[in-house]
Amino acid sequence: MITPSADFSEQDIERLRADTPGTQNRIHFNNAGAALMPRPVIDAVIDYLRREGDIGGYETKAERAGHIEGVYDSVARLIGAGSDEIALAENATVAWQWAFYAQTFRPGDRILTTTAEYAANYLAYLQVAKRTGAVIDTIPDDEAGVLDPAALERMIDERVRLIAITWVPTNGGLINPAQAVGAIARRHGIPYLLDACQAVGQMPIDVQAIGCDMLTATGRKFLRAPRGTGFLYMRRDLIQRTEPAMIDLFGAEWSGPDRYILRPDARRFESWESDYAAREGLGVAIDYALELGLDRIATRNRYLSSRLREGLADIDGVKTFDLGRELASIVTFAIDGREANGVAALLASQGINVSVSVPSSTLMDSIKRGLPSLVRVSPHYYNTVEEIDRLLDIIRGLTRR
Ligand SMILES: Cc1ncc(COP(=O)(O)O)c(C=O)c1O
Repeated sequence: MITPSADFSEQDIERLRADTPGTQNRIHFNNAGAALMPRPVIDAVIDYLRREGDIGGYETKAERAGHIEGVYDSVARLIGAGSDEIALAENATVAWQWAFYAQTFRPGDRILTTTAEYAANYLAYLQVAKRTGAVIDTIPDDEAGVLDPAALERMIDERVRLIAITWVPTNGGLINPAQAVGAIARRHGIPYLLDACQAVGQMPIDVQAIGCDMLTATGRKFLRAPRGTGFLYMRRDLIQRTEPAMIDLFGAEWSGPDRYILRPDARRFESWESDYAAREGLGVAIDYALELGLDRIATRNRYLSSRLREGLADIDGVKTFDLGRELASIVTFAIDGREANGVAALLASQGINVSVSVPSSTLMDSIKRGLPSLVRVSPHYYNTVEEIDRLLDIIRGLTRR
């Protein structure tokens, strides 16, 4: 029996699972790593590749130009932006680097960020701090471990050059108050870069409501798109003022021997060559999520992840590591006396996909809380209560020795 949540009927879930080949083979709880693609996404990518094989890569691109253009529209619809404000990337990190490395910093300029900042972002802060003399300051958290907007407000001064935060970190259920941060950034006219990599596809996103100037995300996680896809949103007026750190003949026109003209839209960050089959899949995945409704997806994910959290809380010898009040569908825990990698391997041997969150992926948070490697379970709406209960049974068994 598949237990529905209020927002999806049993039939809905059955249909969604029938549409997801991987659910027949595995219990997939690694959606924060890479979710299972639904059949229409898989078909779109394969169909595109087949066409490239049949008639040629450039020729397929010309034939499908409308489709490819439509991917920008889909991303824009997903986050409440304009299509001209979207650049497509091969992952979230590259999209984030486009935004971040286009900012200019002078000695003493401040970058304000979060405790649970993603490693790739923090490494870039460190590099830019080394190169320019900018300083990195962490915004304090409140007693629940959530970024504290009041503390952020108190940190603002004329040296703050960028606010760059992770909305939902890779290592747990924390949801940082992206919108409250946006209100402060706007009020003070400070550029605001939001890493929405783990948020996109599991909750509604509206960049106007959030008030961010730049947002980055990946395709393969909760959006269920192919690997090797991601995107950048940059606010229209900021694009005009932003010179990408690197350009090529796609992002700029070589208009004379000693000059060039940047594209007027966010695509000035992109380069000429791309994986168009994967992009086609990204567009289909976004349309799929939009058709289901991000509100419904968020409700079902809350339902499944709450059941998992409650189940884990009832098992002696298991400790969960969530911060925050409202929680995302990323649950991390440790089992007394067991290495996270060993637990993940054991689950894999029983057909259950989970991942391991290592301390270095969010080093500042790991140091602050003394975190070990954690087992990470990230259910998505197509998972079932039966799958959660099966996982809980196995974990219960692991604690009895
Ligand atoms: C919070 C966060 N930001 C950024 C990334 C990087 O995404 P990508 O691997 O698509 O570059 C990840 C990946 O796990 C992430 O969890």
